[in-house]
Amino acid sequence: MDDKEKIDDINKLIDSELINFTRELDNVKSLSELESIKTKYTGKKSFLTVTLRNIGSLPGQLRPIIGNKSNAARKKIEADILKKEQILKGVEYEKKLREENIDLSLPGRGIKAGKKNIISSVIEEIEEIFIGMGFEIAEGPEVETDYYNFEALNTPADHPARSLHDTFFVSDRVLLRTHTSPVQIRYMEKNKPPIFIIVPGKVYRRDYDVTHTPMFTQIEGLVVDKGINFGNLKWTIETFAYEIFGKKRKVRFRPHYFPFTEPSAEVDVSCNICGGKGCRSCSGSGWLEILGAGMVDPNLYKFVGYDPEEVSGFAFGMGIERICMLKYGIDDLRLFFENDLRFIDQF
Ligand code: DAH
Repeated sequence: MDDKEKIDDINKLIDSELINFTRELDNVKSLSELESIKTKYTGKKSFLTVTLRNIGSLPGQLRPIIGNKSNAARKKIEADILKKEQILKGVEYEKKLREENIDLSLPGRGIKAGKKNIISSVIEEIEEIFIGMGFEIAEGPEVETDYYNFEALNTPADHPARSLHDTFFVSDRVLLRTHTSPVQIRYMEKNKPPIFIIVPGKVYRRDYDVTHTPMFTQIEGLVVDKGINFGNLKWTIETFAYEIFGKKRKVRFRPHYFPFTEPSAEVDVSCNICGGKGCRSCSGSGWLEILGAGMVDPNLYKFVGYDPEEVSGFAFGMGIERICMLKYGIDDLRLFFENDLRFIDQF
């Protein structure tokens, strides 16, 4: 066999390999079928791979001719396989979609992002208002002793005011704080006047109905310095109330009693639903109570080593849930703790 015959011979084999490949490829219906064709025509034992591997055994002048022809054939085969693969993948994807019944025209479900609880947002808002007036933020423990929760707040064991607090006791002298007021004592013990603090935190009482939950949130305020008077208290509370509820609301102070303040007051804002005329929300009074306050009873100073002749102060305490309810017109306190997204999402 001379060179020309040899070339013709191999060329024919390559051509018929291509013809076979094209015919078989046409019949391929799945990716797995395609995979076996790929092995058959480009794998280690395929005609083209073997030809290219053995090219060294051909006479030198034949090598480039056979090499080029084989490489071109192999490239064509690989390109055709790739093309077919893309077609089949599209077909299989659509088949999968059809089988899984995915309706691409349906609106997406979206991802629910977490958000700040309304109580936290209102605490932050209140903190901002008081920080703007020069107050600092302080904290104290939720598990408290009888001493700080009652005794040092002028509420000894036999004091009638104790029965107003339905206390959770941990042991005889240890309890869950019923208010944030004990932090007044803790802070005064560790610091000297001037004191300007607010104290946000959780408090606990054995209560459960539309307006009471066993855990709720309070913010306490305490100011102690030389020459602090009731006028300072009034200005501070009014400024706060206008900031949080808006300037249109009226604010009034009503005489009240707390063991740790003297004189004491409860503070109301005018009802926003009836504008002060009286309605169901304000029980016909036109007013809604927002907090308790008063001048620090000088008796407290002896528990912390202050001289009552030297300093005076005022304190106030409010329930955050109540402030939220009045601000947003929410009528059931329990909604804050039920984690119903339909409620939470509104804020
Ligand atoms: N601790 C009181 C309560 O939980 C609220 C309160 C009233 C706090 C008057 C005060 C205050 O600091 O001066 O009902």
